Amino acid sequence: MRSPWYKKLSIVFGPRPPLNWLLLCIVSVVVLIALLESSSSIAFNSVTSTAKSDTYRKLKEQAVSDYQELRSVSTGASKIQEVVLCGKDRENYVPCYNVTANLLAGFKDGEEFDRHCEVSRDRQHCLVRSPKDYKIPLNWPTGRDVIWSGNVKLSKDQFLSSGTRTKRLKLVEENQIAFHSDDETDDIKDYSHLIADMIGLASDTDFNQAGVHNVLDIGCGFGSFESHLLSLNSMAVCVAPYELMGSQVQLALERGLPAIIGNFISRQLPFPSLSYDMVHCAQCGIVWDQKDGLFLMEVDRMLKPGGYFVLTSQISRQYGTSTNPKKGSISTSIEEFSQKICWNLLAEQEETFIWQKTTDDSCYTSRKSNILLCKGGDVQSYYQPLSHCISGKNSKRWNPIQNRSSGVNPEDFFEDSEFWRSSLRNYWSLLSPLIFSDHPKRPGDEDPLPPYNMVRNVMDMNAHFGGLNAALLEAWKSVWVMNVVPVGAQNTLPLILDRGFAGVWHDWCEPFPTYPRTYDLLHANGLLSHIASEGCSMIDLLFEMDRILRPEGWIVLSDKLGPIEKARMLATQIRWEARVIDLQNGSDQRLLVCQKPFVRK
Ligand SMILES: *[C@@H]1O[C@H](CO)[C@@H](O)[C@H](O)[C@H]1NC(C)=O
Ligand SMILES: *[C@@H]1O[C@H](CO)[C@@H](O)[C@H](O)[C@H]1NC(C)=O
Ligand SMILES: *[C@@H]1O[C@H](CO)[C@@H](O)[C@H](O)[C@H]1NC(C)=O
Repeated sequence: MRSPWYKKLSIVFGPRPPLNWLLLCIVSVVVLIALLESSSSIAFNSVTSTAKSDTYRKLKEQAVSDYQELRSVSTGASKIQEVVLCGKDRENYVPCYNVTANLLAGFKDGEEFDRHCEVSRDRQHCLVRSPKDYKIPLNWPTGRDVIWSGNVKLSKDQFLSSGTRTKRLKLVEENQIAFHSDDETDDIKDYSHLIADMIGLASDTDFNQAGVHNVLDIGCGFGSFESHLLSLNSMAVCVAPYELMGSQVQLALERGLPAIIGNFISRQLPFPSLSYDMVHCAQCGIVWDQKDGLFLMEVDRMLKPGGYFVLTSQISRQYGTSTNPKKGSISTSIEEFSQKICWNLLAEQEETFIWQKTTDDSCYTSRKSNILLCKGGDVQSYYQPLSHCISGKNSKRWNPIQNRSSGVNPEDFFEDSEFWRSSLRNYWSLLSPLIFSDHPKRPGDEDPLPPYNMVRNVMDMNAHFGGLNAALLEAWKSVWVMNVVPVGAQNTLPLILDRGFAGVWHDWCEPFPTYPRTYDLLHANGLLSHIASEGCSMIDLLFEMDRILRPEGWIVLSDKLGPIEKARMLATQIRWEARVIDLQNGSDQRLLVCQKPFVRK
């Protein structure tokens, strides 16, 4: 049995035992602490020089204030009622993607599969429960190759040996699925080498050097190609539609690979223009030449100049006329269209075609085409309707990927980097000894309890410049971070992507497009204040965080005292283990560190 570090103190936040018992408990905890060495597992302020008596006094004060807080909760001072667990039908619930409800609301022609938050907006606050046989994912990197079959919702035929290689699953033991068969790895490596060869590189290990830092993988299969790209130090993010069963996004995230629900139907993806160096689609199910090339224009929007669109498709062969099939040749309509938007067909081999977006902006004025250039420059386009125009060189960020040196200006976020470096030292150490086995142990530290490397999928819900991500990488943590830039906050997302990180825009008044239990750690600095200024509900936000966090996952909120106190009350109600930490630097900034329990009684 694991006993989390904070249990020693925050046992008082369990599901409401009698008050007398609690008081006794608090007192005995305080006494116990005084007796113990002031060991680091309870030294929230990592100021090791703090005198023992000082620590004792602070802890005692904290215990008293916790007790008062608890009393006010139990005497009904709080507004929300006893929270309930959702029904079994919501185990894999993703709000905004209820197809039945969308159809009822009148969406059709494929738009019922689109994201419609206004339709499934329900005020029922219930906690999404885990499937009966849910298990904590295996640690990275083991968890990349073996997952628990009870954690993902799969259809039976996905296990059969029929189907394409990338779509086949291997059930190794009755409750585990393995992805890493040697056959598959060889296939993926060959494929990756083929792409490298086609864009003129000696090897796929040169992708990064050739400017391929950010890759958008549309329809990620089960993430094998993505996983390979990550091993080559390119940041690959998978985007795939919501699926009721056998979701590619759910599987990728379960394997610790970046993924998000999104589709090509009627809206733009929540990424800025000019954000990807490569967009990849291998039998991703999108018919690219329908809707007058609208989907290709969306790819063009996201691609950087000099970036690649890689399309691998068996279907493409059939586009030639059936009496005169052009062997190995893509649909003439896609071919013609790509010229109109200034893409060059670089190479074609077997079923793979690679286009390159032009690096020569004069192409846009000289081309003969009825496709218009968009008006207006860099706008934050959050789920806007797909655009019938292309942006051309209409941006300050129009900088060929092969010429990236002038891309990110470190001075833009110098202060932010400094802040995060010191934050990491100051408060990340609260969690590090326990969740990262590689953290240097301070004298007197307890050994971290196994299992190690319990955190892989991290979400920074209000990422600013991506400073947390950078600090984690600098400290060599084997995590990836979904950097979320809230709509209405300073639009730093282009900069985050230019740093080679993963990121999306999101409106935190709405649910996040991911499956339940897909993140190990949620971090948010200043988000509570932000959503209050946007007029959204903190209760909605915390329930949503509970949904997307896996059992035993961590939450770190940093904000002003007021919002933190309110969040702590709510956290207690939804039965997170919660603790407020005073950074003791004289500001009213506080941390709220929580853990979602495995089982709620
Ligand atoms: C989806 O919408 C339908 C119709 O409004 C509703 O009956 C059903 O409960 C919803 N499903 C979920 C999982 O919320
Ligand atoms: C790369 O940048 C340099 C300096 O800004 C510029 O002179 C050169 O033309 C650029 N190359 C390309 C391919 O855009
Ligand atoms: C105290 O720390 C917080 C968070 O690390 C920071 O935002 C704040 O500026 C600091 N205040 C002072 C007075 O140093």
